[in-house]
Amino acid sequence: MISRNSHVVRYSTVMIAVHWMTAFLIMAAWITSEGGRHVVANPPLLHFSFGLAVLVLVVPRLVLHFLGQTPPALDEHRPGLALAARIGHAVLYAFLIGLPLSGWYAASRLGVSVSFFGIGLPAIAAPVQGAPGLIAEIHENAGTVILYLAGLHVLMAGWHHFVFRDGTLRRMSPF
Ligand code: HEM
Ligand code: HEM
Repeated sequence: MISRNSHVVRYSTVMIAVHWMTAFLIMAAWITSEGGRHVVANPPLLHFSFGLAVLVLVVPRLVLHFLGQTPPALDEHRPGLALAARIGHAVLYAFLIGLPLSGWYAASRLGVSVSFFGIGLPAIAAPVQGAPGLIAEIHENAGTVILYLAGLHVLMAGWHHFVFRDGTLRRMSPF
């Protein structure tokens, strides 16, 4: 249920919990990431697990989003900004799906077994000798690009909250 709190329509409790868990998992996946040679010699199982948890969480999150658990945009008087926010959130969602899948693909190409907190998962691509290819390279870079996108997202949230004073941060606040 979306709740009203001093005129601010908040995201549902589940959406808020999943948002902050995802933010934590992205940071944890980034901190535990390794380059290709290390990945083969010593697979970063925590990196795989944190990253796959992002993929697991994005599924119910998108379902709830489309079931209407995202409150209406605050920018009804600024349609350009409302559209920019929608596009920005869609790009973040695309990364939350593409990043774990491309990582899983990269690990498979490197011939490294992937597991999710101890549960073994199948390879999604045939292993190759040498460089794991373009998608693996995209994964390595996208893993850092999402942090820049999240930084921009935080700046936009701060701008809304402190300049427009529209209570944006309270919409997603766990308290
Ligand atoms: C990697 C980290 C993060 C990701 C991937 C992320 C992703 C998202 C996405 C996809 C939405 C849209 C939800 C929807 O409408 O379905 C959202 C909303 C929001 N996020 Fe984040 N977020 C991150 C970190 C943060 C941080 C650190 C803040 C703190 C300032 C923040 C503040 C917000 C707020 C206030 C909203 C609600 C915007 C509104 O509709 O009013 N996010 N986030
Ligand atoms: C969704 C969150 C994820 C983030 C933020 C992320 C981030 C990164 C980053 C920054 C690197 C480059 C590290 C370096 O070059 O030092 C990397 C490499 C890698 N990641 Fe991820 N990753 C995520 C999910 C995953 C998942 C779910 C898997 C596998 C199931 C995975 C497998 C790999 C592999 C195999 C590499 C090495 C690729 C290569 O060297 O060609 N990642 N990741």
